[in-house]
Amino acid sequence: MDFQSLYDYKKGLVNTALKELIDKVAGCHGKLLDSVKYSLFAGGKRLRPILLLSANELVEDDNEDKMHLACAVEMIHTYSLIHDDLPAMDNDEYRRGMLTNHMVYGEAMAILAGDALLNLAYETMIRNIPAELDRMQRYLKAVSVIASASGMSGMIGGQAADIDNGSVDKTEDVLNYIHQHKTEALITASLYAGMLLSDHRKELLEPVIAYGKAIGLAFQITDDILDVTGDITTLGKKPGSDEKNRKLTYPGRFGLEGSRRMAERLIDEAVTHISVFGKRSEFLKCLAYSILERTQ
Ligand code: IPE
Ligand code: IPE
Ligand code: MG
Ligand code: MG
Ligand code: MG
Repeated sequence: MDFQSLYDYKKGLVNTALKELIDKVAGCHGKLLDSVKYSLFAGGKRLRPILLLSANELVEDDNEDKMHLACAVEMIHTYSLIHDDLPAMDNDEYRRGMLTNHMVYGEAMAILAGDALLNLAYETMIRNIPAELDRMQRYLKAVSVIASASGMSGMIGGQAADIDNGSVDKTEDVLNYIHQHKTEALITASLYAGMLLSDHRKELLEPVIAYGKAIGLAFQITDDILDVTGDITTLGKKPGSDEKNRKLTYPGRFGLEGSRRMAERLIDEAVTHISVFGKRSEFLKCLAYSILERTQ
């Protein structure tokens, strides 16, 4: 199967699993459920869950626990997008090719939809803790990695620095803190969690984490580039958001060409790291290169 077909296949599996989880939700207020479904099934790339599944596949052929964690990571990511678009944050009108959640359901319901998805992520992870001891221990370590990467020392910390950047020095260190925390942390954690589920050799973790850090930063650099060069039809969100909000970005600091070169260098590094897995690394190598070419 070629890279794109395999990516789309994995995305289909994630979408089906997410749908099953949402269909099991009982007793939810109707409008809240609609609002959650609106954003969750608006057509995201499902990058983070696919990374989690694929990191696990570097070392295992099948693992029963990976899909629950993959879905939880996508729920956390989608909640972060709903909140990121709110008027109090980036104040954006389009996401995933549709009006943002608050534009359709109102701010209060959008806040609650984000809260609901964050909570559902933990409900999903906790309800599916495996009973067998070894498996349970590995699973809980993976949950802990996802929780830390999403929290104050991870994504939320990065989002706070991002929205606060008017009041701090616009140094390269601050820019890197923002990008590493708001975006790279959850990307690396997805890969890390996928690996933790398996009984792999310890030395294999390091190249996967190094790959995650490199593609995670490159992913946010290309997000910044697309905010300058992209168009709403393919991007699914309105470009110019960073300039409107005077955000600290890679193109703002290093120019478009400089930023592209940095992303290319990071992707080359990522590919070198992941190559230790030989033939099994083929998918993640192609995925790394696809980040440089992405238009959405
Ligand atoms: C957007 O993430 C926010 C960033 C961290 C750059 P994605 O580009 O993965 O968004 P979706 O999930 O495909 O909508
Ligand atoms: C957001 O970064 C990262 C998140 C954790 C949601 P951006 O604000 O640049 O993401 P987009 O461009 O709105 O998707
Ligand atoms: Mg933002
Ligand atoms: Mg934004
Ligand atoms: Mg952006």
